[in-house]
Amino acid sequence: MKIMVVGGGGREHAIISKIKENPSVSEIYALPGNGGIARGATCVDIGAKDIDKIVAFAVENRIDYAIVAPDDPLVLGCVDALEGKGIPCFGPRANAAIIEGSKVFSKELMKKYSIPTAACEVFDNVDAALQYIATAPIPTVIKADGLALGKGVIIAFTRDEAIAAVKSMMCDKAFGASGERIVVEEFLEGPEVSVLAFTDGNTVVPMISSMDHKRIGDGDVGLNTGGMGTVAPNPYYTKEIADECMERIFLPTINAMNAEGRTFKGCLYFGLMLTKDGPKVIEYNCRFGDPETQVVLPLLETDLLTVMQAVTNGRLADIDVKFSDKNACCVIMASNGYPEKYGKGFEITIPDSVADNVYVAGASIKDGKLVTSGGRVLGVTAIASGLSEAIDASYKMVKEISFENAYYRKDIGARALKATEVN
Ligand code: AMP
Ligand code: GLY
Repeated sequence: MKIMVVGGGGREHAIISKIKENPSVSEIYALPGNGGIARGATCVDIGAKDIDKIVAFAVENRIDYAIVAPDDPLVLGCVDALEGKGIPCFGPRANAAIIEGSKVFSKELMKKYSIPTAACEVFDNVDAALQYIATAPIPTVIKADGLALGKGVIIAFTRDEAIAAVKSMMCDKAFGASGERIVVEEFLEGPEVSVLAFTDGNTVVPMISSMDHKRIGDGDVGLNTGGMGTVAPNPYYTKEIADECMERIFLPTINAMNAEGRTFKGCLYFGLMLTKDGPKVIEYNCRFGDPETQVVLPLLETDLLTVMQAVTNGRLADIDVKFSDKNACCVIMASNGYPEKYGKGFEITIPDSVADNVYVAGASIKDGKLVTSGGRVLGVTAIASGLSEAIDASYKMVKEISFENAYYRKDIGARALKATEVN
């Protein structure tokens, strides 16, 4: 089988590594892929948002199955366009990807179907938004409606910050058209859990839970990033909470999307907060999370391509999706300065002994050498029978990898470890 994977980050590298385990896979193309993915797949210089070129490539190269991984092409209708040419895909169509593409849509969906989430107000008029902010409870959370590279969420701890956030989104267009409408949301507190779930629109199969580390600095301080590391499973996510989420969040969401005529097929990501009033949805993503995928998929014991095809064919109920009972830890190595300014082009040295545990995100090949090309450069994943062992093994490998100006958090998994000790 010829497989095409749209995207080019650590998530796509983790997906490709897993897909390769299926013996019927003869060829994998990554569009655009990256310098690390190029070791095991053919990278094609077509951007993940260039839908016309992606479809033309798939037709020309007789692709048997396509996996569309990032949010942008999904929201832009990449799956619809590929299916239109008869190419089976993993990923939701545009009318379902809107669950991530518009926060206003997802908040209204949750309100209509009584799915627990933070209370909110929606505004498309700056004066009305500012009037509301003048008396809203503080802290408050301001979110741009559309996709904003994960940066469209501002948590305002003072009224002045809230006013500034509204103005930057609605007047200064800090996130372009994404901020024309905003959501002003109740501030929630509690441990966060990421749950990715396979769904074919009828059956929903949650994957092993995970914990992201979004802030740049140790101790969860500093700027928000795309994610600096993950562990799985997430110790806060007990069996009891999982059952509650299935009943009150996962199934109601799948049913709500069906009722709206927007059946979701693919990987639905539930960003949850475990509040004192029970689990609530912080966000939905219409795709695998990154870096969550880098700890979740290595623990998957069932063949990934088989599961994905069952999702596409509406036969997920026939598959027994199994996860290992081990623990995984992924530490992201970034270029110093990320998520703001950082240098590029530094040569990366990865010993062969650890190469299989590395998922490359921001690196390209130049003159035959792997060099940094992005802020988050790579993720290093270790699997072990305990969390503490997984953390140690991951950091041991990190120390063997080198590039100039490398930066990584030293405390990935520390909070989870503490939670395990308390429980
Ligand atoms: P999002 O891009 O929606 O995942 O938001 C980024 C981060 O902002 C989340 O991971 C949370 O840590 C935080 N966040 C989002 N919404 C809320 C909320 N209503 N209350 C508290 N924190 C939030
Ligand atoms: N790790 C969060 C995301 O993928 O959006």
